Amino acid sequence: MPMTITVLRLGHRPQRDKRLSTHLILCARALGAEKVIYTGMRDTRLEEGIANVVTEWGGSFVLEYASSHRGIIRNWDGKMVHLTMYGLQAHEAVKEVKEIDEPLLIVVGGAKVPWDVYEEADWNVSVTTQPHSEVSALAIFMHLFQGDATLRHEFPGGRLRITPSHRGKDVEVEGGRRKRGSAKTKSSEST
Ligand SMILES: C[S@@+](CC[C@H](N)C(=O)[O-])C[C@H]1O[C@@H](n2cnc3c(N)ncnc32)[C@H](O)[C@@H]1O
Repeated sequence: MPMTITVLRLGHRPQRDKRLSTHLILCARALGAEKVIYTGMRDTRLEEGIANVVTEWGGSFVLEYASSHRGIIRNWDGKMVHLTMYGLQAHEAVKEVKEIDEPLLIVVGGAKVPWDVYEEADWNVSVTTQPHSEVSALAIFMHLFQGDATLRHEFPGGRLRITPSHRGKDVEVEGGRRKRGSAKTKSSEST
């Protein structure tokens, strides 16, 4: 297994991609990436939103901006998977990827992926060879790669922690206070 997973998200456009990039970054964090680097247009609101999530929910995840993907992929000290619908089938390719013991960079596209990404990747990997979304492709690949450990990462130091419950919402707030609510409770809070 590699020491770390970093995700590189290409070509963020604040107007068009705000929700999708947020979902992608939250997916990467929840499933065990230690960092997301994004290119395209810098978006301080995106960065602030993710920083708030880390403060509230814990872990040491970081989001960084890079003006170009080129320096990131050329200087990457590890292996690189590029998720593209044109690549090798994920359930086959992942067998080789699992053999590595170096940091892994997973690249996901935006609107148009530059050709050098396909060339520099150690593996171009497709999830189903059908067009869908960078979020679903990332989630499925991370699960294939890490197995059930994907679902059991720890996020120490947060202000909020959910206790899984059959029905309703059970949230421990820093300091031991508990917030409970039924699924029917209307709330403007994200918890
Ligand atoms: C809107 S899609 C663009 C589709 C793109 N032409 C491609 O090469 O997959 C944006 C991103 O979603 C991811 N993606 C979409 N479908 C995928 C699939 N079947 N397998 C892997 N990644 C996929 C890729 O990272 C892609 O760059």
